[in-house]
Amino acid sequence: MKKRFPFTSFPNGWFRISYSHELPPGGVKPLYYFGKNLVLFRTKQGSPHVLDAYCPHLGAHLGYGGHVEGETIQCPFHGWCFNKYGKCTDVPYANKVLPNVQINTWHVREINGLIFVYYHAQGEAPKWELPQIHELTSKEWTQLKQGSQCQINSHVQELHEQVVDIAHFPTVHSDHSTKSQGSEIDGSVWKQRLLSRQALEVAKLNLQIETQIEIILYGLGYSLQRYSISGIGQLQFILLFLTTPVDEEYLEIHMLISVKSFFTKTIASALTPLLLKVLKDEVEKDFPIWKNKLYRTHPILCDGDGEITRYRYWASQFYSELAEISNNNSPK
Ligand code: FES
Ligand SMILES: [Fe+2]
Repeated sequence: MKKRFPFTSFPNGWFRISYSHELPPGGVKPLYYFGKNLVLFRTKQGSPHVLDAYCPHLGAHLGYGGHVEGETIQCPFHGWCFNKYGKCTDVPYANKVLPNVQINTWHVREINGLIFVYYHAQGEAPKWELPQIHELTSKEWTQLKQGSQCQINSHVQELHEQVVDIAHFPTVHSDHSTKSQGSEIDGSVWKQRLLSRQALEVAKLNLQIETQIEIILYGLGYSLQRYSISGIGQLQFILLFLTTPVDEEYLEIHMLISVKSFFTKTIASALTPLLLKVLKDEVEKDFPIWKNKLYRTHPILCDGDGEITRYRYWASQFYSELAEISNNNSPK
């Protein structure tokens, strides 16, 4: 079968794999991402860890029936224990633990109530980190609320390309006013600014609504979007748009939102589900396009198409096999 994209479905970088609240101390969770079976567990002391799922002994899946013993996870089949480094620390019925028994481990971070792993095709350690969102530690902002989650047959790079593809806003989103205010690249970070100005008549009042949007991509799994809408007061909210490859064909999308106190915190809390619904509806308008389109490596672009070429060049750093080619071949 012909590959749909000319690059792997699993770019290098940080990707969401769980919510913190889904994993209490001692918790164990089977995962399937990047076409691999994994196990996520939280030790009694509280740190989350991810290992490849299958026990090196006789192959049991540690995520189904495995349990946490102190700082290790114990296999449900014959009780071998593995620590956070993937090393076997105990075989309950043997006098000696074999010295070189090892399960592959993953780099894990827990930030703002979310758990991430670092995927790298060659297993290299992370060279960059995800941010702490400082607003979320402020009492002025509502707790990060989990919105929709879904799977779609597409590619994480395609989904985030919409950040620069401003020409699709009028046709897909009926948005004729949002314009790019430029972008900045800083290594693995793409920062995009958008601005929309609209006149709105409400109860015989002519309101000028200005929406400023800052979208910061940290790799191809994490999009932090800050919205600031002025007109009647100042409505500010943050959207996290997180994408994780599941297998060669499918990826998972999670959306979360936090709203800044708007007149009162009660109003902000009441607005949260409404905003989530609006944002989810907008994203879903892209779904039929994403599901059915093909990827054009050399698209025909005109002025007004936005920075698609520059975005693709930036994105190429997340593919081990493309990074070297791109380094010698940057766009002007
Ligand atoms: S299969 Fe895991 S201990 Fe035997
Ligand atoms: Fe879109």
